Amino acid sequence: MKRAILLLLHLGKSYTEEIAAAATGLGLALVGLSSRPGAPEVLDGTRRHLADCVVTEETELRSGDVEKAVREFTDRGYRVEAVLASFEGYRLLMAEFNERLGARDSSEAALRLCLDKYELRRHLFAEGLSEVRVSPVVPGETPELDPSARWFVKPVRGASSFATFVLEDVADLADLPAIQEQMRADRRMKAIFMDRYDFLVEEYVEGPEFSFETVVLDGRVHHLCVHEKARVERLERTTLEGMSVSPPASIGRELVLEAADHVTRCLTALEERGLTAGTFHIEVKYWESRKRWEIIEINPRMGGSLINPSTRTVTGYSLLDLWTESLVLPDGERDAFCDRLTRASQVEALRTGAPTRATVFLSKYGEKGRTIDEIRFDPPTRPPRILRLHVAEGTELDASDRGICLMDALWDVAADDLGAETAFLDRHAAEHFHVRYR
Ligand SMILES: Nc1ncnc2c1ncn2[C@@H]1O[C@H](COP(=O)(O)OP(=O)(O)OP(=O)(O)O)[C@@H](O)[C@H]1O
Ligand SMILES: [Mg+2]
Repeated sequence: MKRAILLLLHLGKSYTEEIAAAATGLGLALVGLSSRPGAPEVLDGTRRHLADCVVTEETELRSGDVEKAVREFTDRGYRVEAVLASFEGYRLLMAEFNERLGARDSSEAALRLCLDKYELRRHLFAEGLSEVRVSPVVPGETPELDPSARWFVKPVRGASSFATFVLEDVADLADLPAIQEQMRADRRMKAIFMDRYDFLVEEYVEGPEFSFETVVLDGRVHHLCVHEKARVERLERTTLEGMSVSPPASIGRELVLEAADHVTRCLTALEERGLTAGTFHIEVKYWESRKRWEIIEINPRMGGSLINPSTRTVTGYSLLDLWTESLVLPDGERDAFCDRLTRASQVEALRTGAPTRATVFLSKYGEKGRTIDEIRFDPPTRPPRILRLHVAEGTELDASDRGICLMDALWDVAADDLGAETAFLDRHAAEHFHVRYR
């Protein structure tokens, strides 16, 4: 029998190439189970990186599919030792099967709590780790909101900043049924919502925003890297992150370390629920008027966009490698793994005053429902080291209120000159990024 990791792919996609390399590095085969993509050729590229692959008839994977696939792969000579899913919609499936297989992962219950923004807020509040007041949005009822506070609306289950907005007027809640219809109709996002279409309203945390890339192993919390969201754009019904900088540029290291410690306390408060392992992308804001850190969300997965290439540039480690390795790590190697994380950690470097590398990456978003006529990013100087265009001429953008990313670009920058670097790259991208619609 060949030892293997089972990758769950959504509509034929995951970070297959990178995860296959991680598995190979561990001496494991990577086998895949995918839901059926709209166009079969999507799988052509994917299959090349998989030792073996099963594709279901439906567009969304269910527990029974994973069970069947594990049996099928066993018949084909693979001993599946762990399951990995980069797609958040399959994170609970991943945990369910890792528990059955004895792989190192958090409990499904703990991850379910992280994925429910209403329950998570209530939990943190009850533990004294949040001061953000929250209410469910009940259809047909006008919530009683303290008029002296600012309020923010978002789905209890969400991603890609779908329908997240400042509530200027409670009358705006009348838009929610139409938004919920959109959520139900969005085929690609369906699995993310996990059949939850309800909303919450919570206090608006005014202040700068950051994210931590964090690896947890046996309850030990390792913050590998921290990014500042240097430009947060608010459109009509969505909130978009335009630029990320690592390490943070606008606050001092004391405050970054305070944030790291707050996140550690919040994760530790979830340990008894079974949050003991995994890779997390944790969003936090510094509530300036209250001089305190607040969790915005705990994503039980790697960050999207160019977070992983950025983390790799800064720390030398890919989160996908670490995540894959952690699932099947032998007991005897745990301490060495944790030592490696500590040595690589940018947050630890900030703690000790050691030098850290720095990156800036930015994303450009498109106008929903429109068709791209031309897209170009070809600056004459300072080209990005990594450039990913997600659309091409003729691409029709979904008519959805989620952030529709057209392009990501990453630069290595001087760590001691972050203010000037971010200002320059912001202008640089504004000047040289061109998109025209039909
Ligand atoms: N209580 C809040 N106060 C202030 N801003 C908030 C609050 N909740 C969310 N936001 C803003 O809205 C953005 C999106 O919210 P959130 O991260 O919860 O949703 P999401 O759909 O998971 O987004 P994404 O996938 O883009 O991370 C946050 O990154 C933050 O800028
Ligand atoms: Mg978020």
